[in-house]
Amino acid sequence: MAKLTVLTGITTTGTPHLGNYAGAIRPAVDASRRGDANSFYFLADYHALVKRQDPAAVHQSTLEIAAAWLAMGLDPSKVIFYRQSDIPEILELTWILTSVTAKGLMNRAHAYKASVQANQDAGNQDPDKGVMMSLFCYPILMAADILMFGTHQVPVGRDQKQHVEMARDIAQRFNHVYEELFVVPEAIIDDNTAVLSGLDGRKMSKSYDNTIPLFAPEKRLRKLIMKIKTNSLEPGEPKETEGSTLFEIYRAFATEQQTAALAQCYAEGIAWGEAKQLLFEFLNEMLSGPRDEYERLIADPGYIENVLKEGAVKAREIATPFTARVRHAVGIRPLG
Ligand code: TRP
Repeated sequence: MAKLTVLTGITTTGTPHLGNYAGAIRPAVDASRRGDANSFYFLADYHALVKRQDPAAVHQSTLEIAAAWLAMGLDPSKVIFYRQSDIPEILELTWILTSVTAKGLMNRAHAYKASVQANQDAGNQDPDKGVMMSLFCYPILMAADILMFGTHQVPVGRDQKQHVEMARDIAQRFNHVYEELFVVPEAIIDDNTAVLSGLDGRKMSKSYDNTIPLFAPEKRLRKLIMKIKTNSLEPGEPKETEGSTLFEIYRAFATEQQTAALAQCYAEGIAWGEAKQLLFEFLNEMLSGPRDEYERLIADPGYIENVLKEGAVKAREIATPFTARVRHAVGIRPLG
């Protein structure tokens, strides 16, 4: 059977945290090791511009995210690992797709609607106040990312499902108007992937500023774990595992046996301080090897640049001829 093509992008904003590892990096690295799919992983740096207009931050985040994926075991010889902006064909395709994308479809995008709603709530006359075209067209760029490589499956978090559905709509529209060039992709949302809570108990996310960075130095890691919100139960009082952020983080990375052992400690009334110390030791042990590797990689950005450039060569072996077919299909052809 022909291999499936699986693709996902990572927006280059922020520093990689434990939630990113559990939700995206670990499942992707595991899948790439199984080798049963053609996997594409890329750094969505053009998407980052929608959210951050801070050049130094976008640049640093690109380095950190690339280093994190490599340090956690992504093997760039088994997958195509590249940076979106190294593939100029993606922007070419984006423009072509804008011509088969109804404005009304983009009006329905959650992120855009949230901005409009915020303007209305604030009593602004102009519902589009402060909305950049990049935010409005974000789903089209994402469709180009996906459709460029004949992607069958897009593993994403629930928040990205609508974007993949829009990519489907756009692909179908193009296939109908011009030629059947695009594979119609499918979002894969794995309910078993852990969605971690952060320090304050809400979903761990850079937008809530409640994250535990994946490669925080040991001391800082300990300090952050000590800050995780618990309740006022005293040592000796039995504690619920359900709804305990500490427990949830431990369970996301521990074996079943280890998890059962911690549940037992909860039932026996382990002190919160002790449970935190346990989580710290566990995570520190798990992360200390990768952390050394991460630091080595961060100190050698030229190496990472080369890895990404090699990935771009592989990606363009597909993107260049495919874009030529798309151009031909829409009538952009040599004259003689
Ligand atoms: N929008 C995605 C996010 O913020 C990142 C992304 C960009 C992406 N292009 C993609 C994900 C293509 C999957 C496929 O998480």
